[in-house]
Amino acid sequence: MIAWELDAQTLLAQAAALVADERDWVANAANLSALAGTQIPGLNWSGVYLLRGETLVLGPFHGKPACVRIALGQGVCGTAAQRRETIVVPDVHAFPGHIACDPASQSEIVVPLLAADSANRRERLIGVLDIDSPHCNRFGPTERAFFESLASLLVRSSDWP
Ligand code: SME
Repeated sequence: MIAWELDAQTLLAQAAALVADERDWVANAANLSALAGTQIPGLNWSGVYLLRGETLVLGPFHGKPACVRIALGQGVCGTAAQRRETIVVPDVHAFPGHIACDPASQSEIVVPLLAADSANRRERLIGVLDIDSPHCNRFGPTERAFFESLASLLVRSSDWP
């Protein structure tokens, strides 16, 4: 949608600098959510949901108040978490079971937060990074690559409960 490849690189460098000296996951998730929400055009919500048992619970975010609990398999967030893969939804109205926290949201991307687990072959599911836009089809390949890098940065730069 917007030619911001160069900006994306700059923003990732800023994100890395923001979390460089901090391991607290709340602080890092809050700052990276705010960085995305304030620096990337055309977003209305950016934030994190954390897995607690079989439920995703709202974590640090930038935007309007949102749904607090999402079961695994529910909505875009719960589906991305369950499948452990990024989901890009160009039109939320066409996604069965989409949870409309804010009716303004038209498209979204959800990236699972997966951490290497030395005691286990399978990566540990920490939660998801959820990004919403009031524009249809806001998230293309540039945005997907950016948010996957941001999610990976958040996971490896923080200590998780
Ligand atoms: N859209 C999400 C719900 C979370 S809010 O958008 C912040 C979903 O369907 O999973």
